[in-house]
Amino acid sequence: MLKEKILVIGASGQIGVELTLALRNIYGNNNVVASDLREQNPLLEGTGPYVSLDVMNKEMLHVQVIRQGITQIYLLAAILSATGEKNPNLAWNLNMQGLLNVLDIACEEQIHKIYWPSSIAVFGPTSPKVNCPQQTIIEPVTVYGISKYAGEFWCNYYHKRYGVDVRSMRYPGLISYKSAPGGGTTDYAIEIYHEALEEKKYECFLNPNTYLPMMYMPDAIKATIQLMEAPADKITIRTSYNVSGMSFSPQEIADSIKQHIPDFKISYKPDYRQAIADSWPQSIDDTIARQDWGWKEKYNLKEMTADMLKNLQLESKIPE
Ligand code: NAD
Ligand code: SER
Repeated sequence: MLKEKILVIGASGQIGVELTLALRNIYGNNNVVASDLREQNPLLEGTGPYVSLDVMNKEMLHVQVIRQGITQIYLLAAILSATGEKNPNLAWNLNMQGLLNVLDIACEEQIHKIYWPSSIAVFGPTSPKVNCPQQTIIEPVTVYGISKYAGEFWCNYYHKRYGVDVRSMRYPGLISYKSAPGGGTTDYAIEIYHEALEEKKYECFLNPNTYLPMMYMPDAIKATIQLMEAPADKITIRTSYNVSGMSFSPQEIADSIKQHIPDFKISYKPDYRQAIADSWPQSIDDTIARQDWGWKEKYNLKEMTADMLKNLQLESKIPE
């Protein structure tokens, strides 16, 4: 087997922490280099190499790729939907230039594979709301969605023109307990569990019936690794695959929490994120991911809620 040396960019973020730990389990601690602009997440400490790195600094990135003998890059550094609307220039610059820097370096060096996530945010108000297909009308209205859609075409372009093996999926909202989310519209579905345990109440920034596509983090990590390990000839989509695990509304997640915490109360105070959520589909058709590389989720809402609450309770009992 080819010896791989992996660089994870944005390793201190919500996905980066868990993906880095999963990759270290598979490839060995020293073969997965974590990197981020901010300091190392405490959960990564002592588990493998870490370098401080700004993906916008192409020269520095290039030096690290050569110095560490990198053969695969997972690019997770980005500005998400809600933060992006507060600073559109920053979101566009990081989300585009970061990707182009990585794709360019891949062409010059021996990079076997690149992973870059897109998002359900590529879809806009004119896309189908229910079971939104892989190929359909796509007219995003957030800067985040625009940057992800443009990024998908850059991935396709580098694959077709330069043969770069870059793979991507459109993550739905991701829910996790290990590391904090980074400024997305779907973050309510994480905050709600913390507040339910700490305060027994939560004020939601989306309306009760706002359905969105979602996925539990263990499923997202599994999907990512499955996509990256699939034989290249199975990858028929070189823009980005639709994937989904479940779809629910704030009211439904609150009801599932009440099964465990009967006196939990939810109230609603929609803010600017409601318009972002309203522009996205409620559910996603991911048939092609299932056919091409065998995607299948494990968790539904009920199972995720039980697991989230169990793990957050365990964490709160661990002494500092
Ligand atoms: P996050 O904000 O939690 O993490 C991003 C990390 O990138 C942070 O640790 C940040 O410090 C780092 N970073 C920012 N600028 C950097 C730079 N210039 N150089 C190096 N590192 C930098 O984000 P996340 O939720 O882990 O998302 C990872 C990827 O997955 C992003 O591309 C995001 O768009 C995509 N995605 C996430 C979700 C979700 O629900 N979390 C859904 C769809 C797509
Ligand atoms: N969870 C992400 C967001 O809300 C979707 O890409 O921004």
